[in-house]
Amino acid sequence: MNEYRLKKFDGSIYLTGFMASGKSAIGREIAKKLERPFVDLDAIIKRGEGKSIKRIFEEEGEPYFRDREWQYLLELTREFKGVVALGGGALHNQRVVDHLKVHGILVFIKAPMEVIVERVMRNTKRPIVLNAEGKIKSRETLFTELKALYSSRIEYYKQAQVTLESHGNELKEGQALKLIEKLTRYV
Ligand code: S3P
Repeated sequence: MNEYRLKKFDGSIYLTGFMASGKSAIGREIAKKLERPFVDLDAIIKRGEGKSIKRIFEEEGEPYFRDREWQYLLELTREFKGVVALGGGALHNQRVVDHLKVHGILVFIKAPMEVIVERVMRNTKRPIVLNAEGKIKSRETLFTELKALYSSRIEYYKQAQVTLESHGNELKEGQALKLIEKLTRYV
């Protein structure tokens, strides 16, 4: 294990995985431990566009959001070195996966659907989980829809060089240490 080399690693660490899998929490924690800067791609999009992700979806639609997401990500890979938590849909084609793997290490945070559904039901900020009235969809609907969405994305998530399993009940400190241990094998 060589944590020193990981701290000096010249690329970024990109955290991918489905919504509510813990990318930002774990990302922040490893960034602190590795003394590297941390950014959340959704936060950058919000700041850049001057509105919430929910409002971007409502007012401009998902294709616009995906295009902006890709542009902000391109900028980030040019200008930022550190730990990046991606949005759950950021890896929406092979080009994005290849691009990130050239600029750093891609990490897949893998959480069970039961945990994802329970978490997303507590948060109205994600447009994908809201119905036409702006209310959270039912648990049954979410299970069906999110499972289908997950199946369409897994081919990209699974290309990550490192996978960290999360069951939803671990302490983020322990998860961060486990991830750092895995990452040291890649630098
Ligand atoms: C999305 C996930 C969200 C956010 C947007 C779309 C998705 O990020 O980018 O609401 O398509 O899965 P999180 O993964 O941080 O929830």
